[in-house]
Amino acid sequence: MRVHHRFFRRRSILTLVGALAIALGGCGRDAGRSATADDDARWAALGGRLFADPSLSADGQVSCASCHRAEHAFSDTRAVSIGTGGKTGTRNAPSLLDVGELSHFFWDGRESRLEIVVLQPLTNPVEMGLASTEELLRRLASEPRHADAFAELGGLSADAVARALTAHLRTLRSGENAYDRFQSGDRTALDTDQQAGLALFTGKASCGDCHQLQPGRARFTDDRFHHLGVNDSAIAGRVAGLIQRLDGKRDLGATVLTEADIAGLGHFVATRKPADLAAFRTPSLRNVARTAPYMHDGSVATLEEAVDQEVYYRGISKGRPLSMTVEERRQLLAFLRALSAPDRL
Ligand code: HEC
Ligand code: HEC
Repeated sequence: MRVHHRFFRRRSILTLVGALAIALGGCGRDAGRSATADDDARWAALGGRLFADPSLSADGQVSCASCHRAEHAFSDTRAVSIGTGGKTGTRNAPSLLDVGELSHFFWDGRESRLEIVVLQPLTNPVEMGLASTEELLRRLASEPRHADAFAELGGLSADAVARALTAHLRTLRSGENAYDRFQSGDRTALDTDQQAGLALFTGKASCGDCHQLQPGRARFTDDRFHHLGVNDSAIAGRVAGLIQRLDGKRDLGATVLTEADIAGLGHFVATRKPADLAAFRTPSLRNVARTAPYMHDGSVATLEEAVDQEVYYRGISKGRPLSMTVEERRQLLAFLRALSAPDRL
């Protein structure tokens, strides 16, 4: 009985030590992992509050969320955005869903790092219009809600603001749409019209040449720049003069958003290659039914017109009109409407 008791005790102590070791080890690992996840979540939460805060604009009226509206897949319903003091820009605000997947930013691809992009609207004269990054930091320091949050995350600086906004944007993801479900094997996810639209999209209408359907989760873009002729007349015959004007500018972002004709130069402003004149980035078509109006300058009001225009330009680039019946256009539209999904935030 005694022996058994001692044995039992020793075994239970060993078990206890073992269990403790496992618990501590496991706990340490979990704590490490969740501290990083926690940290990311805190940066993103702070970024989310900055994103929605109009007090970070010159007139106290405009936040990131004024132009990137959640209910429209974080795009703007106005053709071109209106910033602080009612100033209008030159470009249509794109959706920010899945923005973390992009390698070039803005319609002309003039930036390649999201951490740089997110700070620019704050001081762009037609967006939030603050005088300088110093003014931004002063405003944040004088708002205890933000100042405390930055202090807890290691201090307030322009880099920290960029980190918070970027962390927030990386959480904006588009959810699974009917096409995704179809693609992963659910043959009922698209109805007959939508399936016919998909066949046109990848076949006769060759939309998929640029709005690419990658295997797995399709992104509906090739991440490249194309010359489609949207509002070409804005720069026709004036390119040499415009390039000369562009050469005299220091702040590219401010120039592009305030001077429509320079904005019309497209990807050229980033590369200075003649082939990139008036070329614009292929936009993703995920959630496209929620992001009207369309094109880099918001010049196309409805999805119907956008499709008509794209069909028309397909014809021009192929050297013969692409003939699509009314029925086929309807099917193509039905397919595009199947690309909307609730956001995965
Ligand atoms: C006044 C309207 C307006 C405000 C305010 C605004 N944006 Fe934008 N945003 C735009 C427009 C217009 C573009 C496209 C500009 C271009 O392509 O030249 C854009 C582009 C972007 C892009 C690039 C997206 C892409 O697909 O390349 C990001 C990222 C972005 N904005 C984030 C923000 C953040 C973060 C804020 C707040 C700090 C903000 N925006 C405030 C209008 C606005
Ligand atoms: C040669 C490449 C290319 C092909 C082919 C192409 N597109 Fe596009 N698409 C683009 C580019 C680039 C833009 C942006 C143009 C601009 O803003 O100036 C665009 C814009 C769009 C838009 C507006 C999206 C938005 O967010 O503003 C829609 C809708 C669209 N395309 C649908 C189609 C359809 C449907 C087809 C097939 C009939 C098609 N595209 C074929 C490159 C292409």
